[in-house]
Amino acid sequence: MSNQGRTMHLNLFLYNMGHHEVSWRYPESLSHRLMDFTYYKQLAQKAEQAKMDSIFLADRISTSPKAVEHGSLISFEPTTLLSAIAAVTNRIGLIGTVSTSFNEPYNVARRFSSLDFLSNGRAGWNIITSGSDDEAQNFNLAGIPDHSERYRKAREFLEVTMKLWDSWEDEAILLDKVNGMFADKQKVHEIHHNGEFFNVRGPLNLPRSPQKRPVLFQAGTSEDGKDFSALYADAIFTAQQTFEDARAFYKDVKERISGNGRNPEQVKILPGISFVIGNTEKEAEERAEELAEFMNFDHSIVQLSNRMGVDLSSISLDDPLPNLSDLKETQGHQSRTNLIIQLAQSENLTLKQLLIRLGGGRGHYTISGTPKCIADELEFWFLNGAADGFNIMPQIMNRDFNLFVDLVIPELQRRQLFRRDYSGSTLRDHYQLPFPVNQFVTSS
Ligand SMILES: Cc1cc2nc3c(=O)[nH]c(=O)nc-3n(C[C@H](O)[C@H](O)[C@H](O)COP(=O)(O)O)c2cc1C
Repeated sequence: MSNQGRTMHLNLFLYNMGHHEVSWRYPESLSHRLMDFTYYKQLAQKAEQAKMDSIFLADRISTSPKAVEHGSLISFEPTTLLSAIAAVTNRIGLIGTVSTSFNEPYNVARRFSSLDFLSNGRAGWNIITSGSDDEAQNFNLAGIPDHSERYRKAREFLEVTMKLWDSWEDEAILLDKVNGMFADKQKVHEIHHNGEFFNVRGPLNLPRSPQKRPVLFQAGTSEDGKDFSALYADAIFTAQQTFEDARAFYKDVKERISGNGRNPEQVKILPGISFVIGNTEKEAEERAEELAEFMNFDHSIVQLSNRMGVDLSSISLDDPLPNLSDLKETQGHQSRTNLIIQLAQSENLTLKQLLIRLGGGRGHYTISGTPKCIADELEFWFLNGAADGFNIMPQIMNRDFNLFVDLVIPELQRRQLFRRDYSGSTLRDHYQLPFPVNQFVTSS
């Protein structure tokens, strides 16, 4: 099948020392630089030299003494780190995660608008509703609000932020020094939003930003999550275990997008791929096995229990996961829980085998292979209706990402599947997305 001139989008999911849960223990990992800005700067610059579309920072707004003992759940606040990265890069897109459950729309609209100005049009927001009680407990709540309420709030949150980003028309700034008119007040609008969760007068205290509004990413895969993406997202991150699942998801979501009267080609779908690279298949497999040996299964069980909202500590590592079908309606991250149950059942995995599989990418598609093998896999998914691009998730960040840039990207370029240079300067340009029309401007 030919790519007919269509090229894939590549986003670096920049996650601490890497996507393997024990990446920080790996001898080559630069764990001593976790709080060192130059570590992130070098990775972002490398991704930019490789002409990748964007880098992305996830976020979870809690940690625990137990989690930090095992090196997980610490990270910089994403938009703060991205602002610093904006100053040392020129073209690459900068996507940060911010939760609609624990923030106010005015602050978030302002933060991303600021990042869009500071980066000359490279800001993207990964919209999450969050899913765990321990996060809620940092924000005056006993537990996480239920799933449908979180998505209802997220919708209203988006309506408010979009009104705020549109509250200045493009030509509002006059800078008329002679007559003393900085801005045309007729073109700056109060939004007077009064809703179930938010009451916001507006306008935003910043003019419309270079991209008009930041690029909106989302990653929910439940029914509510997919409907939300189909309404608002410009691009969608997703975790899929198999090509067949990824293709079914792609088709389903693109149909929902069309159903909302939007152009499905203008919403990009990016499944995640977590990988270990080796010069030979054997070497890659040995690396993956080596990583599994660093795992602490007691801790992995606690993490999985938290993720699924059920205590798995009494199950023997050599037994299969018990029947957990009643968990499918969890109030946490629904789709990821379903994916994990399905993975364990379809491959009849013991708890230990399941933990090893999840250790490499938390439920994302995981492979170990040669650069050619990884390029083949990306090409196959891209050309056969499962992806518009990929969320690149190296298991050992400084090792596997460098190999990806040095060996996989040139192979994709040789196959004419990935750009050799940027053709635009904004994140919206890289993902080939239109600039949104301002809802306060009526056509005359
Ligand atoms: C690539 C990717 C990145 C994500 N990043 C975050 C994150 O940073 N913080 C978070 O709380 N959830 C994150 N999620 C989880 C999603 O936002 C969402 O809650 C999850 O997919 C479950 O969605 P659902 O409740 O609609 O099933 C991410 C998911 C994916 C696939």
